[in-house]
Amino acid sequence: MWRMQSLGKAFYMTDVEVERIRKTLTETKGKDIKERFRPCVSNAEYRFKGEVMPEMMRQMMEDEEDRSYIFGNMDHVLEDFFYNGSTLARSGFMKRLYEFSPEEYKKYYPRFIEFMFRNKIFDANDNLVETLTLDEEMVDKMGRLLEEVASMQGLHSSDVEWAGAGKYSIAYKIGEKVIKLGRDRLSDTVPDHPCVVKPMYDKKLVVNAQRGTEEYLEVEDYLRPLEKYSFKENEGIVLDLFTKLRKAGWVWVDSRPDNVGKTKNGTYIILDRDAIYPEDYFEEHKAEIGKKISLGNFERYEKLRLAEMDSQVQE
Ligand SMILES: Nc1ncnc2c1ncn2[C@@H]1O[C@H](COP(=O)(O)OP(=O)(O)O)[C@@H](O)[C@H]1O
Ligand SMILES: [Mg+2]
Repeated sequence: MWRMQSLGKAFYMTDVEVERIRKTLTETKGKDIKERFRPCVSNAEYRFKGEVMPEMMRQMMEDEEDRSYIFGNMDHVLEDFFYNGSTLARSGFMKRLYEFSPEEYKKYYPRFIEFMFRNKIFDANDNLVETLTLDEEMVDKMGRLLEEVASMQGLHSSDVEWAGAGKYSIAYKIGEKVIKLGRDRLSDTVPDHPCVVKPMYDKKLVVNAQRGTEEYLEVEDYLRPLEKYSFKENEGIVLDLFTKLRKAGWVWVDSRPDNVGKTKNGTYIILDRDAIYPEDYFEEHKAEIGKKISLGNFERYEKLRLAEMDSQVQE
């Protein structure tokens, strides 16, 4: 079965949607792929729009007629239809292509890697400023790393799945591991603490030698998403981690549910190791840090922590 994945969960398009796409594809057979895409998207329900292309791809690969288009226009397929690495990984397209033709897969593997780890940089108003791409050497390195982490677990690079992205990092899941590439780390310090994920591989890299962009590469355990979605529902989990780190002398500034995951054993830990400062350093450089990252979450959880301490004293 070839299905979309969303936030680590299987995402199911309704049968009605799938049928609608099939019908549109049949009606537009023979036309240019871009022309076929438009009616599929405009006919889709709003919440399925992002899933239309992968589903189209799935159906087209089943259809002999369109395979040559896919193989002959891989650049277009990537650029125009998958938008970014998240849709590519979530669509299962790589797996599908590998099953269909290992040679074709191998040929496009470097393109997939480059596409997956492309880093789009937005300004404060969410306008795209620039797109950083990996240079050839880095593409090769990341490609081999993915293969290695996959084969270590008896898997293949095409088993890659989407883990998530933040403002700075892009993370892919492969088996029980995550490969994460990020830029601009806010703090140089990383706590060695049981509440914070410990990578098996952690390296600072210069990704684009010409531009001198620094990126950080980590391989670590895959952490499961929290069961609850809202900020409020996860408040207790975040506060608990915040308090434990605070007791150990660390200030977790970017304290929010997005940065927490669940281990296989069901323990909640921090997966984003950035912006956790030693207490003394934080007190001294608060204003400076505040310019790089909002202190809102810190203030919120600090308040909650103090209130909890007060109530414990009174009891
Ligand atoms: N170890 C992991 N397990 C599962 N998902 C992860 C892991 N690391 C990162 N992610 C996903 O990638 C996103 C971005 O990673 P994160 O470390 O928070 O980087 P950023 O600094 O960009 O916020 C996370 O919010 C999460 O969805
Ligand atoms: Mg984060």
